[in-house]
Amino acid sequence: MRAAAAVLSLALICATGWTAAAADTPMPKPPRGKGEQCVEPTDVMRRDHMRFLTHQRDETMHRGIRTKKHSLIECLECHTRKDVQGRFLPVNAEGEFCQVCHDYSGVKMDCFECHATTPRQPKPGSARSSAEPGSDISFRLRITP
Ligand code: HEC
Ligand code: HEC
Ligand code: HEC
Repeated sequence: MRAAAAVLSLALICATGWTAAAADTPMPKPPRGKGEQCVEPTDVMRRDHMRFLTHQRDETMHRGIRTKKHSLIECLECHTRKDVQGRFLPVNAEGEFCQVCHDYSGVKMDCFECHATTPRQPKPGSARSSAEPGSDISFRLRITP
């Protein structure tokens, strides 16, 4: 039932832009983020994070405006956890931040087919550096740009 409702409200979002369809959906408890607070007040994030992300995407892709505020890579800095070996767990893995709520609410999203699910870590022998142009982008380079 809840999954069906989430699918329906997603369909509404796609068709008509954001609607407050699921504002009163009960929420599960995802692992707490790092630091004192989120990039917006928690209740606002709970309700509107998808809107911030798609807005940021549209600003970046269509208008070329780049800010860090609602960038996906920023979310990963605070919302990923590490396993016992100290490796980052994908933020969309079972039990991890994005997935806990989305499983619960039956939300399906394709964002992580292209976007990274862990913060960027310098790999031994990797030429990537934070000075590289565009390296602030949470883009996994799974597709050729
Ligand atoms: C088919 C691959 C693909 C999918 C699926 C996809 N994106 Fe993106 N996204 C991109 C590319 C490519 C860019 C542009 C990267 C750049 O700035 O050069 C981008 C940029 C962004 C940005 C701005 C850059 C940043 O990290 O702040 C955001 C935010 C974003 N996408 C969010 C999303 C969200 C949310 C979803 C799921 C609803 C999603 N994307 C799905 C490929 C994808
Ligand atoms: C500086 C660290 C930081 C960044 C960056 C950050 N968050 Fe958060 N986020 C937090 C913390 C800490 C909390 C919990 C705050 C609280 O309990 O009041 C939180 C809470 C949330 C919640 C509500 C969780 C709940 O328990 O209901 C959502 C949703 C969320 N963040 C999504 C995001 C998204 C999406 C991004 C990227 C656009 C992001 N956050 C970036 C630290 C961060
Ligand atoms: C506190 C629970 C919660 C957390 C944590 C959470 N989400 Fe969500 N998210 C939801 C709910 C509920 C919906 C569906 C809203 C609706 O149907 O109205 C949703 C929908 C979305 C959508 C829109 C899906 C689409 O394709 O239209 C995106 C994008 C999204 N979330 C991204 C994220 C990302 C990225 C994270 C992790 C950084 C995250 N969410 C963490 C509860 C959460």
